[in-house]
Amino acid sequence: PVTRTIDALAKGTVPEDDALLALLACDSPEKNQYLQEKADILRRQTFGNHVYIRGLIEFTNYCKNDCYYCGIRKGCKSVTRYRLTPEEILQCCENGYELGFRTFVLQGGEDPYWNDDRLASLVEAIRAAHPDCAITLSAGERSQESYQRLFDAGADRYLLRHETADKAHYQKLHPQDLSFENRMECLQHLKEIGYQVGCGFMVGSPGQTIEHILKDLRFLVEFQPHMIGIGPFIPAAGTPFEKEYAGSADLTVKLLSIIRLLLPKALLPATTALGTASEDGRLRGICAGANVIMPNLSPASVRKNYRLYDNKIATGAESAEGILQLKKQVERIGYEIVTARGDYPDIK
Ligand code: 5AD
Repeated sequence: PVTRTIDALAKGTVPEDDALLALLACDSPEKNQYLQEKADILRRQTFGNHVYIRGLIEFTNYCKNDCYYCGIRKGCKSVTRYRLTPEEILQCCENGYELGFRTFVLQGGEDPYWNDDRLASLVEAIRAAHPDCAITLSAGERSQESYQRLFDAGADRYLLRHETADKAHYQKLHPQDLSFENRMECLQHLKEIGYQVGCGFMVGSPGQTIEHILKDLRFLVEFQPHMIGIGPFIPAAGTPFEKEYAGSADLTVKLLSIIRLLLPKALLPATTALGTASEDGRLRGICAGANVIMPNLSPASVRKNYRLYDNKIATGAESAEGILQLKKQVERIGYEIVTARGDYPDIK
């Protein structure tokens, strides 16, 4: 029956709950290999063997939130806080452009310093300097007006993981002042404004069950995001979840395949968390259906401070400087890093 579920998925049918749960629970290496092959076929139909790169600029690690899982939560007193200046950020983009990056992802904590005036001017400056590049923001929950202003300033895409599609589970991962409803509303606003929108969740976050993952998959099918970021939960020292177990890289890889089959045109990164949880995690992710990699373009001096979880990889093939090494690794497994912006297919 699991084989039948995989075949149905590959033909564009969304299986019933029982079938999806059985697939999620299946640990047969042959069936999981079969799943991966089907996902790879579908990925190649839309994207060939191309892998898009995004330059990740971690522009601030100040955060007003206290998410229980996150290493840069407000309550984490051991973090050395930093904020890049607009000049430093533009320099990161310049360096990235030279290395072939045509998408810049500005990711940061929810830092009140970066109000609409400041963030919109920054986006305008990047837009002016790099008219041929995509600008992606990953700066958390903001008002609809704020999202609109940033879009008008030149931002194209926005990443805001939903973290979990189950309200009760959402509340176990976040303090009272963060609500599931607001997160979902933000995602709706982003879509309405016209952003290419990314959502996503952690695999194996504390309290997550296979039923929660099923809900996440159903949510993805309903919301139809353009981008989906998933990675294993990795405990971060100094957080309430520091003693919890890490999520599974194998399950993450498998979910990449399932998501590829459910949303064939999605831009799916093989995330840093996956690469941190397992040495060849990102390459395995690509073989399983991922088609995006996000090397680190932040100044080397601040990378250690943008620590969402312990032992985050930040050098070698993970960094922007390591792009040649990454290219070779990706070629060796039969794929190709390309410099195109890599927009969602069919967008304007
Ligand atoms: N382990 C894995 N991923 C994490 N994130 C935050 N903290 C952790 C952690 N400890 C993810 C969240 C967030 C994204 C930027 O990083 O899903 O949305």
